[in-house]
Amino acid sequence: MKWLFAFSLFPTQASSMAGKVDALFFYLIAVAVFFSVLIFALVVFFAIRYRRRSDQDRPKEIHGNLMLELVWSFIPLALTVVMFFWGAKLFFQESVPPQNASELFVVAKRWMWKIQHPEGPREINELHLPLDQAVKLTMTSEDVIHSFYVPDFRVKMDVLPGRYTRLWFEPNRVGTYHLFCAEYCGTKHSEMRGTIVVMQPADYQQWLDKMKATEKPMASRGEDLFTKNRCVSCHGDVPSRRGPTLENLFNSSVKLNNGSYVMADENYIRESILNPEAKMVDGYNPLMPTFKGLLTEEELVDILTYIKSLGEINKHE
Ligand code: CUA
Repeated sequence: MKWLFAFSLFPTQASSMAGKVDALFFYLIAVAVFFSVLIFALVVFFAIRYRRRSDQDRPKEIHGNLMLELVWSFIPLALTVVMFFWGAKLFFQESVPPQNASELFVVAKRWMWKIQHPEGPREINELHLPLDQAVKLTMTSEDVIHSFYVPDFRVKMDVLPGRYTRLWFEPNRVGTYHLFCAEYCGTKHSEMRGTIVVMQPADYQQWLDKMKATEKPMASRGEDLFTKNRCVSCHGDVPSRRGPTLENLFNSSVKLNNGSYVMADENYIRESILNPEAKMVDGYNPLMPTFKGLLTEEELVDILTYIKSLGEINKHE
């Protein structure tokens, strides 16, 4: 298989999922090639073997063949059921980030990728990562739909305005890899790309220490915004008459005033900041003003990180 990669017919396998995705892909290719060849060969064979030899030539009548029909039903059924379960298994693995995954935030805009590390560093069109560490990305867009695509990691996820989407991967090869936007987003869509640099953990730590000097950690930037925007006057460490506390809010189940419950995940917190009346917490009045237009996407993820740092109820995923 080495020659395939040497000629770059195939992207490098640089993440823990890449080999698994390729194995499924090769299975699909093998099934498709096998049946294409079989069908074309049989078309030719039957055309010759059973051709009409004279004007009086009449084939013998047949009334079905149970064995043959069972075989051509069950073999394709088995092959496609394998496709389904294999594909579903990989889909679930790609959907659920591992518990130990570190976090990153991605804000896309025409035409760049802005990345925030919780420790503080910001990057544009570059992403530095340590080897063999799973990372989960919380992504949003400032304008139109983009798509975060790293062929060498076999991952792709749409990045949407107005909500968070999630992607995770675990790079397992040191090197630099292409990041592409895979959703047409305007005239410079093809220039909306970046570089992912996967480093040895020690080198990464050095890079991080150097970069950390330039920016405060996200949670503390979020805390500053929390104070500056006077959020703290209603949302203190204990519930007040005006607003619930945000301690241990993240990933908890919140009772709303219509009696239903929601999971306080990233999208819920985002909505509660931008559109506070959409889901009112049980027992509170709609006093909170909207912060739509007052906070940038990058500030929103800073605040989100701060709220997460106030504690989270760990749920089994
Ligand atoms: Cu962003 Cu295409």
